[in-house]
Amino acid sequence: MRFLTARRRHPAAKALILVFALLVMGGLYSALAPTGKSSADTGTSQQVEEGKKLFAVSCASCHGLNGEGQVSGSIQGPPLVGVGAAATEFQVSTGRMPMAHPGQQAPQRQSEFTEDEVLALAAYVATLGPGPAIPEPAAYDPAGLSDEDLARGGELFRTNCSACHNFEGAGGALPNGKYAPSLIGVSGLHLYEAMITGPQQMPVFSDGVLTPDDKRAIIGYLDRLHEQPNQGGFAFGGLGPVAEGLWAWVAGIGVLVLFAIWIAAKGVKAR
Ligand code: HEC
Ligand code: HEC
Repeated sequence: MRFLTARRRHPAAKALILVFALLVMGGLYSALAPTGKSSADTGTSQQVEEGKKLFAVSCASCHGLNGEGQVSGSIQGPPLVGVGAAATEFQVSTGRMPMAHPGQQAPQRQSEFTEDEVLALAAYVATLGPGPAIPEPAAYDPAGLSDEDLARGGELFRTNCSACHNFEGAGGALPNGKYAPSLIGVSGLHLYEAMITGPQQMPVFSDGVLTPDDKRAIIGYLDRLHEQPNQGGFAFGGLGPVAEGLWAWVAGIGVLVLFAIWIAAKGVKAR
């Protein structure tokens, strides 16, 4: 103690105390902070082995042999360290990966892989670094949501998603030739994964922005919306009365004009 007291005015004392305080804070933070739902290794080691082999054949040409990414050369892929199993499941089972035409937005298509292979790839990518895990079915199953939940889901969808995906989730164009795809018929799993991984231009909706309950409400809302039968008429992607009014205006007036021309032509002949 005397040693410390004597040196309390030493020029380095302040800096030392600061460092010490920072270390204590850091230690406390890592001990107390919520770890979140991420895991570095979700699969069995056999699954990881199989995933690694599939990866070497189908993905390494762009993403590097160890998923470290490849930024030089003509074919490029981002590093996959820390993107997690959820991003991999999403990208591969929606057929976006392996990418066919680098440079364009990878379109959704039939997956080349079986479900087991997708899970193996996801398990392997998860070992590269901690990232979001594939959500449990309970997280995205809309069964049991009340009407209020669905209404809240609709509200959340309109504020967070409709700017890109349109009011009915029918999809829409984005700048630079990119597009937000239609959400009609997209599974709850892929809806959830898209929200937590934010593919391409889409932002990541962390649990701080949309809680897991919010995400489930959005999925429930889309599910209900898309199982409703079309009420007839032209939907125009659900743009609403404005578009329908415009259609009536253009087509209705058009028919009247044609009719008027026809009458005029007849009238001339009759004279
Ligand atoms: C022809 C090159 C190419 C091949 C082959 C390819 N990828 Fe990709 N991958 C890309 C590019 C480019 C991106 C970034 C653009 C995008 O997301 O569409 C990407 C993005 C991804 C992402 C999203 C990363 C993120 O930040 O969320 C994952 C996951 C992924 N790839 C996994 C795979 C897996 C698994 C395979 C093998 C089955 C594979 N890729 C094959 C080029 C490729
Ligand atoms: C800034 C625009 C933007 C916003 C906001 C946005 N998305 Fe997206 N979303 C995209 C783009 C772009 C893609 C296509 C990514 C790709 O092809 O890799 C996409 C893809 C998706 C997909 C994948 C669909 C498929 O065909 O597999 C789902 C599901 C999705 N979004 C859901 C949502 C939900 C739910 C919200 C709101 C919580 C939302 N998005 C908000 C731009 C957006």
